[in-house]
Amino acid sequence: QTADSLYIINQYAQKYFAEQLWENEMGQAVAYSYLQQRGFTDETMRKFGLGYCLNERDAFTKDALHNQYNKELLLKTGLVSQRDYGLQDNYRDRIIFPIHNHIGKIIGFGARLIKNRDNAPKYINTPENELYVKSKILYGIYFARQAIEKRDECLLVEGYTDVISLNQAGVENVVASGGTSLTPDQLRLIKRYTKHLTILYDGDAAGIKAALRGLDLALAEGLYVRLVLLPNGEDPDSYVQKVGKDEFNEYINNNKKDFILFQTELALKEAGNDSQKRSEVVNRIAESISKIDKAEDFSRQQDYIRQSASLLKVDEEGLINLVNKYIREKL
Ligand code: GTP
Ligand code: MN
Ligand code: MN
Ligand code: MN
Ligand code: MN
Repeated sequence: QTADSLYIINQYAQKYFAEQLWENEMGQAVAYSYLQQRGFTDETMRKFGLGYCLNERDAFTKDALHNQYNKELLLKTGLVSQRDYGLQDNYRDRIIFPIHNHIGKIIGFGARLIKNRDNAPKYINTPENELYVKSKILYGIYFARQAIEKRDECLLVEGYTDVISLNQAGVENVVASGGTSLTPDQLRLIKRYTKHLTILYDGDAAGIKAALRGLDLALAEGLYVRLVLLPNGEDPDSYVQKVGKDEFNEYINNNKKDFILFQTELALKEAGNDSQKRSEVVNRIAESISKIDKAEDFSRQQDYIRQSASLLKVDEEGLINLVNKYIREKL
């Protein structure tokens, strides 16, 4: 009931904000020109339903109330908030990114500042409500699902603009997690379409850490995970806009690394010659390998044991015992 009403409000709001982008003078001068400068075409902006919230106290709120939308529901969408002086628009002077579920209904919004302001977060997202359940959302899934099935691979990026730029470049099998590590629900959603997950994260430490946190979960869900680290300082959006589609694809294909082996190499580098640390690494990798469901994928587990043992310079027998220990603990 509430959910149905929220869908209707969200749909109305998306239309309203898109109108401001395309038909309002300020929308054109401020938002449209910003998006154009970022390299987005009209077609792309329309495909993703992008919009603009005017830099006015309550332009949207007034229009919504005028159109008989319910105040409590408007507050629930997070588009509007209650102040002493009355209701106000929450996403003032921000680009609006509607967020669609896998069947194309709008469940919420992301809103990006156009000009950096002190203390203001770069992005604001819809608060948790009946439709917007953060742990289940993959931005872009509606536009990606066919391509994911067709290519039997899902690319995972951090941000809205990464998804949008890749789509514009013809890479459509891509979704974003919103910069946080993946949840079991998100992984299950991906698994409906493919078992092959390729994570495209910034090469910075935060990006790698976020990616690693998702790994054991992904393995437990039976996904095959690979990782591509982008050149320093680039995210998928900036990189594809810089080098173009062909060079981007070439880079991705040449730099896909199996995630467990990547993790092993990274950890070994960090451990250096410290034997205590190296044995911690061995334990951690054994634990990761133990997450692969043996019944479902015995030979895959064997492959990992062989390759990791060689990287870790330990004997296979010992690693097998360690992996089995973790499997028993899991039972
Ligand atoms: P652009 O700067 O527009 O290119 O966006 P980006 O996606 O490159 O941003 P960034 O890499 O900094 O962050 C990745 C994702 O994390 C964003 O797309 C958002 O989903 C989320 N994010 C970033 N900054 C914030 C923030 O201040 N608040 C919240 N809630 N989420 C954020
Ligand atoms: Mn397959
Ligand atoms: Mn980052
Ligand atoms: Mn980024
Ligand atoms: Mn970016």
